[in-house]
Amino acid sequence: LCRFPLVTVRGVPLMCHIADNFEHIWAFTPDPSDLLIATYPKAGTTWTQEIVDLLLNNGDAEACMRAPTPVRSPFLEIFSPKPIPSGLDLLKKMTPPRMIKTHLPFQLVPLGFWENKCKTIYVARNAKDNLVSYYHFDRMNQTQPEPGPWDSYIHKFMQGDVGWGSWYDHVKSYWAEREKRNILYLFYEDMKENPRREVERIMRYLGLSLSDEVISQIVELTSFKSMKENPMSNYSCVPKLVFDDSISPFMRKGEVGDWRNHFTPEQSKMFDKDYKEKMKDVDIPFRDLI
Ligand code: A3P
Repeated sequence: LCRFPLVTVRGVPLMCHIADNFEHIWAFTPDPSDLLIATYPKAGTTWTQEIVDLLLNNGDAEACMRAPTPVRSPFLEIFSPKPIPSGLDLLKKMTPPRMIKTHLPFQLVPLGFWENKCKTIYVARNAKDNLVSYYHFDRMNQTQPEPGPWDSYIHKFMQGDVGWGSWYDHVKSYWAEREKRNILYLFYEDMKENPRREVERIMRYLGLSLSDEVISQIVELTSFKSMKENPMSNYSCVPKLVFDDSISPFMRKGEVGDWRNHFTPEQSKMFDKDYKEKMKDVDIPFRDLI
């Protein structure tokens, strides 16, 4: 295995195995009952998947374990060398309603999701914590380019020169469409602040009404601690050759504000100035950024 360079598709740098197969991804037609979970990488994808999976299974973790894929739900865009099945192969074998995850920015998501009015949950995380989490992930994920030194990684992130492209464009792309497409736009910081409130918000969006007891159970099962210990959510099933968790674990810290342990005051100031400029056309209520 080697760390492949990124390939740009419609202006967005993607992993080459995804870029090479983008036309297949673009042609995918979901069922109207399918649910899309969309995120910029490291914004809380796995956490949200775990919550949704448990909500759909009335809090029954055993039922979730019988799901057809080991790590919750297929990526819309994972393509792998044959004979390993790709995310699309897995999707086609599953019966709708399917929970599908993607890191594609809004404009690269197949149009069928919008034509069929599929429910979509987007999770966003403040830029600095998202960057820190991505940095550590790029260190351990042997399929993405080397992150290089911390200081230069900050610049790469700011320039959108990382897998899935610009964080700024990504969060803005879904924000702009959230009302028109009925997208549930969530924030990692809100989930940390009051997990129960956010679990209930997702539950209502899905049109479900579960008992208080089941909701409590879901909150407990989706705590950082529970998920770190759970092989269904901690990605320990992924071979070390792909995710080398001796470098950094997938479930790393799960905190808000860890950026303060990484950014120097100068780096933070420089980042803030650039952030202000890049985000001046929107008012997305990110917290814990300064
Ligand atoms: P850190 O690297 O900051 O720890 P994704 O699933 O989108 O790849 O995001 C991974 C990030 O979400 C990691 O952040 C991981 O620890 C965090 N995370 C996963 N499950 C979590 C949970 N239940 N509570 C809080 N953070 C969680």
